[in-house]
Amino acid sequence: MPIVTCVEDLRLLARKRVPRMFYDYADSGSWTETTYRANETDFAKIKLRQRVAVNMEDRTLASTMVGIPVAMPVALSPTGLTGMQHADGEILAARAAKKFGIPFTLSTMSICSIEDIATHTSAPFWFQLYMMRDRGFMERLIERARAAKCSALVLTLDLQILGQRHKDLRNGLSAPPKLTIPNIVNIATKPRWWTSMLRTRRHSFGNIVGHVQGVEDVSSLSSWTATQFDPKLDWDDVKWVRKLWGGKLILKGLMDPEDARLAADSGADALIVSNHGGRQLDGAPSSIEALPAIVDAVGSGTEVWVDGGIRSGQDVLKAIALGAHATMIGRPFLYGLGALGEEGVARCLEIIRNELDVTMALCGHRDIRTVSRDILLSGPFVPAGRTAAA
Ligand SMILES: Cc1cc2nc3c(=O)[nH]c(=O)nc-3n(C[C@H](O)[C@H](O)[C@H](O)COP(=O)(O)O)c2cc1C
Repeated sequence: MPIVTCVEDLRLLARKRVPRMFYDYADSGSWTETTYRANETDFAKIKLRQRVAVNMEDRTLASTMVGIPVAMPVALSPTGLTGMQHADGEILAARAAKKFGIPFTLSTMSICSIEDIATHTSAPFWFQLYMMRDRGFMERLIERARAAKCSALVLTLDLQILGQRHKDLRNGLSAPPKLTIPNIVNIATKPRWWTSMLRTRRHSFGNIVGHVQGVEDVSSLSSWTATQFDPKLDWDDVKWVRKLWGGKLILKGLMDPEDARLAADSGADALIVSNHGGRQLDGAPSSIEALPAIVDAVGSGTEVWVDGGIRSGQDVLKAIALGAHATMIGRPFLYGLGALGEEGVARCLEIIRNELDVTMALCGHRDIRTVSRDILLSGPFVPAGRTAAA
């Protein structure tokens, strides 16, 4: 097994092993990718406050997310086409998450279906819902998530229309990939990928194929989104979903304090500060920049989580210090999956746990639940006067 020391090692390995079309699908943002890049680079601007001569024994990262115990405050974000990063990718990622003790979220646009995950894994998972025009299909999806005993529903609010990602257009992204000469030539150089793909029957959108009548082109994500996603989604629809679901509801894609207050007022159990990993509104701030104002606006009644740009346990700690109750990661686990399958996702989680644990200790804390802004030095996103060190 290659030596993997950090998430970046997993990314480089995934780039070698995953066909270009699907690697690019993961490693891209919309238009100029400014927000995509800022998600990562803004974390590096936040400085930690080193403490010494503090007892570091008996540390714990255990926490809860919407009341569910987690080994560390990190869940796997929903990502479409995960089963194209590696054969049966969603099943493998869900298994790795379960072994580690953190939640896995299945995307509406996954390759493995809700039923596949329920059959092939043992922990309750979360299901992410996109609002579609066909309300009958929505009702059936929610019913299927309930039948699969999903323990929370994540409703994504920031993708009524699709942000343009140039690479996907150039690569002609589809699942399964179209057998054009450039695709065949590229896939031929990824033997681990295609030999495992030949062993599974899961090659298209498992939650959709066979569940919606009269849909012609399911293989293309962009054409499916353009015709099926509901551009009219509003807070009444959120209420409708909440009532229909009746269980724990998490709203994803909040970037503005006013929207976050509306989300909290809608009765959601948690909200996720997220710009969809820089894949939707290019020019929006990074999610870590947006976080503090949203934490202040929402207060303590609703859990505020954040995703976007987290590439290490240090980033997780910074997000918690800035007031996030928990975090989620997308690309880090996708890179792990593309690099080494289930083992790669497990490795990604171990790396993040170790970095989080050591950094927390060196900042003078032993329990993740006691971490606050006082571990940060004043600077970007940490206004002077807000920290013990200011
Ligand atoms: C390849 C890819 C596919 C994604 N698909 C979905 C999706 O189907 N539903 C959703 O709510 N978010 C989706 N997202 C956004 C993620 O849930 C998450 O917000 C984002 O990846 C976080 O940023 P990070 O990748 O920098 O951790 C996707 C992100 C990526 C990278």
